[in-house]
Amino acid sequence: MFIEDNDWNEDQASPTPSKPILNKTVGTSNGTIKLKAKGVGKKSLLRTLKTLKTLGSAPEPNRDVQKDSDSEAESAPAAPRPKRKKKRNRGKKKSDAAGTETAGTETAGTEPAGLDDDKKKADNVPKETASSSAPMDRSASLRARMEQRLEAARFRYINEVLYTSTSGEAKRMFSQDPQAFGVYHRGFTAQVQRWPANPVDAIIAFIHKKPASHVVADFGCGDCKIALSVKNKVHSFDLAPICKLVTVCDMAKVPLKDCSVHIAVFCLSLMGTNLIDFLTEANRVLVMGGVLKVAEVASRFGDIRGFLSTLSSLGFKMALKDTENSHFYSFEFVKTKDVSETVKSSSLELRPCVYKRR
Ligand SMILES: C[S@@+](CC[C@H](N)C(=O)[O-])C[C@H]1O[C@@H](n2cnc3c(N)ncnc32)[C@H](O)[C@@H]1O
Repeated sequence: MFIEDNDWNEDQASPTPSKPILNKTVGTSNGTIKLKAKGVGKKSLLRTLKTLKTLGSAPEPNRDVQKDSDSEAESAPAAPRPKRKKKRNRGKKKSDAAGTETAGTETAGTEPAGLDDDKKKADNVPKETASSSAPMDRSASLRARMEQRLEAARFRYINEVLYTSTSGEAKRMFSQDPQAFGVYHRGFTAQVQRWPANPVDAIIAFIHKKPASHVVADFGCGDCKIALSVKNKVHSFDLAPICKLVTVCDMAKVPLKDCSVHIAVFCLSLMGTNLIDFLTEANRVLVMGGVLKVAEVASRFGDIRGFLSTLSSLGFKMALKDTENSHFYSFEFVKTKDVSETVKSSSLELRPCVYKRR
């Protein structure tokens, strides 16, 4: 989800929505996954891997990505060419080159960094050492940057798969490639740090005002910030564990009894194409009169009325709506009726959110 930090500014209210443009089948170590994501820089991934190999220490390529790249390289949209950075900006990203850059913040086009560092070092060491160590430093920093680019490209790819596949397909992706979840969450965490506010904090503030006896279900909990911040019993569900508090499952089917939860939360987690399944599951576990909190990226909503009307058919009456925020929309619903499996024939779509490729 989300896009790079410079998209979260006054000029652009919300992240770039994208529509899936390609159905494809990705070979994995254990079989195939049908994906509906568009190619997210696979040429770029390949190019980066090649450069890393040239530098002599390419990381063990992810088998899925490698196979995917091999088969899709021609059909995937061309990766953007790195922009040449102007001379005066040299050294601006020195800390990035040192390895502090994270997946979601990778800035394609920044020239291989470390040149200024090399120069400074060269001034302070005997000549023969300087001449031999400078190329090594440059090579190491280029390698570090290439590795960061690779991780950033993987993050964008995984993110897009999450938005454009069913939750079953997403679950398979993470079980077949356990590293993918770490890559996704490192990228997501990097993005969160750039937001003006994190919508999960407002939800935590809401729960703080409720009795501590109220049970919470956090659908798509990520790093379990809610569970770690409130006294209430919180059931934290996600496709893979980032921390010990997570119950690993597809939130389309959570291991909770009917009517056992007072507050159900979807904070930036309505990913996947089977949104109705998640919301009917929330209806099932919520007590009558229980609260459903939803926070999502603003640009995902094309038709808010349609969204509210579908939620109503799923047994949720809107109690509060905040669509003034330029980045995130927040909703509060109250469960007013039990809904049966039959509502699963309803349809609900939110636009996927993807990172821009540079
Ligand atoms: C963008 S993160 C948000 C995490 C957390 N709610 C927050 O606000 O910090 C979305 C999370 O939803 C999870 N997720 C997406 N689809 C899911 C599904 N079908 N079942 C369980 N978790 C899911 C993802 O794995 C990811 O951790």
